[in-house]
Amino acid sequence: MDLTTKSAALKAHSATTQIVMGVSAFLVVFYLIKFFLSRPERLNFPIFEASPSEYKSAVVEGSLKYPDTPFILGDVVVLPKSTLDEIRNLPEHQASFNKMVRKVMHSKYTNFGADHVELISAVKVDLTRHINSYLDGLQDELRYGLDKELGPCEDWTSVHLYYQLTRIVAFLSGRVFVGLPLSREEEWIDASINYTRDVMMAREAVEKQPAIMRPFFARFLPEVKSIRRIADDQMTLTFAAIFTTTAAASQVIFDLVSRPEYIKPLRDEIQQVIEEDGYDNIGGKSHKLKKQSIPKLKKLDSFLKESQRFSPPTVTGIGRITTAALKLSTGHTIPKGVHITFPAYAISMSAQSMVVPSDNTESYVTPHEFDAFRFFKLRAMEGNENKHQFATASPDSIHFGYGLHACPGRFFSSNEIKIVMIELLHNWVMRLKGDVCGIGGLDKRPESRHVRMAISPNESAEIEFRRRRA
Ligand code: HEM
Repeated sequence: MDLTTKSAALKAHSATTQIVMGVSAFLVVFYLIKFFLSRPERLNFPIFEASPSEYKSAVVEGSLKYPDTPFILGDVVVLPKSTLDEIRNLPEHQASFNKMVRKVMHSKYTNFGADHVELISAVKVDLTRHINSYLDGLQDELRYGLDKELGPCEDWTSVHLYYQLTRIVAFLSGRVFVGLPLSREEEWIDASINYTRDVMMAREAVEKQPAIMRPFFARFLPEVKSIRRIADDQMTLTFAAIFTTTAAASQVIFDLVSRPEYIKPLRDEIQQVIEEDGYDNIGGKSHKLKKQSIPKLKKLDSFLKESQRFSPPTVTGIGRITTAALKLSTGHTIPKGVHITFPAYAISMSAQSMVVPSDNTESYVTPHEFDAFRFFKLRAMEGNENKHQFATASPDSIHFGYGLHACPGRFFSSNEIKIVMIELLHNWVMRLKGDVCGIGGLDKRPESRHVRMAISPNESAEIEFRRRRA
């Protein structure tokens, strides 16, 4: 190359470098402006600061201090309960559920969170409508899962509850979603569990990055690279169903073994219903609870709901991204593009926001006490028989959502957890690890993990199980 050509090449190279640098600088400035403009701090609402493990108390404090005013925590605006009815049924072009899922799941990087219209209608219509016809299969599968995962357990055996329950719930969900024999194949079980775990790990890895850096680096995270494939409906369903149900069932078992005084009344209720209704005797050898028996277990249902009230999956609920400016009845306006949500935990812990029947305040004057049969007592009142159930979504209980996007799988999940608990109460004994006298203890209850709005059961806790002797 002669000198002239060399110098022309250098000039061209330097021009390209300048263009690349110019475009990069423009992109960085563009992202910075976009980032700062999209922060909710620019809204004129009270701001709360909290470390990731303290969001729960911050939301409670905010709700008590500002019962009628939206407040900001992290990158969300928490709305007062009084505006629930104005928001819960808003269509996508005003408040988007899908955009919220995509934001929370960091879909841009994890590829999780596409709209699954057919999936939702399948769960809403098919799964819920045929819920009773799945009960036999679920009971079969539970026994299979317990035998396979917990083994003979003739003597006390220590079990990593969360891990084993995840596999058992995967068996149960698989039996209904894909059916036998695939549902019992290790490859399927592994795929469904790993998919959920991988998505959550990728999400958490992105979440840990400073928001401002995500557009530049999130795609290169190893956790993200491992998840970037096409999340089909089946895997999305598995994600929605396994993770949530396992978490709820784990919390129920932790609550029960740390409060063993509830074991006998729950067991008695099951025994009484069996005596009333008898068993279904399928094929002459396997005994199954009859379909009409499960709704009769009102104490068990109440226990599940109280457990969820204390240990919900998230501190807040009914999250949406506004897709139009919203004028609230409180006089405040929420502009377009803001992540709004409601203080789910604070709502269900607040005496004021709960139903206080005039002739029975007993159940509700102590919202901070774990009263496993509080909802059972409420349902015993005339006119309340069908209210306050675990799967009931209401303004006082929004842990399954409430309104347009209320969880369509909650009836199925409620049945799954009940079937697990019926079997464990009826045919097994369980206790906290090392609790040889079976006295439980609230100070020994495995602690949940709190990360921002998420509450997860203790994943490493061990619980001891033994089969009941005849
Ligand atoms: C204890 C277990 C569960 C909990 C706590 C739970 C909770 C929730 C919540 C909070 C929502 C969003 C509601 C809203 O923002 O308005 C939701 C939506 C959803 N859940 Fe569940 N869920 C559970 C189990 C299940 C199961 C077992 C399935 C499937 C069989 C399922 C399928 C779905 C689907 C498809 C949606 C989206 C609904 C829509 O977009 O309209 N969930 N769930």
